[in-house]
Amino acid sequence: MTTPTRITVDRTAVGAEVPRRLFGSFVEHMGRCVYDGIHSPGHPSADAAGFRADVLELVRELGATVVRYPGGNFVSGYRWEDGVGPREERPVRLDAAWHSTETNQVGLHEFADWADAAGFEVMEAVNLGTRGVAEAADLLEYANHPSGTALSDRRRANGRDEPFGIRLWCLGNEMDGPWQIGHKTADEYGRLAAETARMMRFIDPHVELVAAGSSNHEMPTFGDWERTVLRHTAGLIDHISVHAYYEEDPSDPASFLASGAALDRYIADVVDIIDETGATTPDGGTIGISVDEWNVWNQTRWNEVDKPRVFTGDWPVAPHLIEDDYTVTDAVVVGSLLITLIRRSDRVSMANLAQLVNVIAPIRTEPGGGAAWRQSTFHPFALTAKAASGRVVVPRVEGATIDTPRHGAVDAVDTVATVDGDAVSVFLAHRDLDAATEVELDLGAVKNVEAVVVTIPEGGDRHTTNSADAEPVAPAPLAVETGADGILRFTLPALAWVRLTARLTA
Ligand code: AHR
Repeated sequence: MTTPTRITVDRTAVGAEVPRRLFGSFVEHMGRCVYDGIHSPGHPSADAAGFRADVLELVRELGATVVRYPGGNFVSGYRWEDGVGPREERPVRLDAAWHSTETNQVGLHEFADWADAAGFEVMEAVNLGTRGVAEAADLLEYANHPSGTALSDRRRANGRDEPFGIRLWCLGNEMDGPWQIGHKTADEYGRLAAETARMMRFIDPHVELVAAGSSNHEMPTFGDWERTVLRHTAGLIDHISVHAYYEEDPSDPASFLASGAALDRYIADVVDIIDETGATTPDGGTIGISVDEWNVWNQTRWNEVDKPRVFTGDWPVAPHLIEDDYTVTDAVVVGSLLITLIRRSDRVSMANLAQLVNVIAPIRTEPGGGAAWRQSTFHPFALTAKAASGRVVVPRVEGATIDTPRHGAVDAVDTVATVDGDAVSVFLAHRDLDAATEVELDLGAVKNVEAVVVTIPEGGDRHTTNSADAEPVAPAPLAVETGADGILRFTLPALAWVRLTARLTA
């Protein structure tokens, strides 16, 4: 047992409203995310359109509120027209972003129908890699204009009488990255994004637009990129994106577990740039930060082993790409990254766990007719998405700290709380790998206390993963005692993520 941890939640010190869009995800035409993932016509649970009912059930359970589509790197070479109209007439194309073959059997209509069934908002990306203003405008008119024009009537002829009414649009993807199809300088992208935004707003003044920020905090152009893009797009966009992936260096798990500190710094740097440029939204508001790709991803393995193989092989349909198996450690990191995002609800307007199914995803499917199952990271996401609402309270933490080589000293217990009417939720990530800590949690007067923990399962270790055969990494009830003094007391195991919910009584 390490030093006890005392956590105080001052319910009167409420901060920003938690945006429900913080609990978004991402579906890209990549690997087996769409084909052999959400869509698998031969599967026993597939509906008439080919979408798997078992996957849909897990997507609903995960509770993502908004899903970005159709990419990612894929969108930078995508022709949206290929994915609409009779399926048997849709062209098969090379997908140069992922060295795959795209059948176009899923496109805007199918995805939007599936989104309605799953109950999330669609966040659509336009191609600013190989295409530009005209094609983005065409897609918007096709999707959102009621009727009476060639494009809107084409949508109606394709089976959707009412407009899709898509509000959220990404202006391209990771255009700062040399790996991106149509990679651009900040000036080139900034101008194109501004011209596209202007045209899109002429067509539909209700759109919310996301400009592409840096692909990661370590990009050599980070900072200059944001300043230049914001200079061009000021008054035309509503959000600027942040993409952030973290991976474990096996010789330094402590820094990996403290990834939330790195995300926090990244967000703080982008906040400073937004404030320094004075760029505002069209109505004079503050530009939000859209963390529209974040997760744990073993990118070293992808770049050094898998990518060279994939890009010299043939052009398969729906190959296995970056299907990382997530451990208990990864689940705690994902839970902790969510804590950071909630804490920065003052400036982070939305966030998307990348991705939803198979590709670095909380949900996996076995190929062909096999099962769908939950990875370890599914649980902190689903449990947070369900309970985090209302306003943020940043608790006071007195306890042990951990020295990390990359991020300095961090609290062993990372935590945030939300208060929504009389409902209070506290989220905790315990980043100590070896020892438990006794927690005293002062929430004021509460009743109906319930807590669940995701930690190392019986007989497992910190590398334990789930599979189609067994899901040992799953939430379990955590015993909490309420003292005569009203303080909640519980043992937080080493390497654990906890959600505690209660009702305020006074
Ligand atoms: O999510 C996988 C890929 O990561 C996306 O296509 C790209 O935007 C990012 O580099």
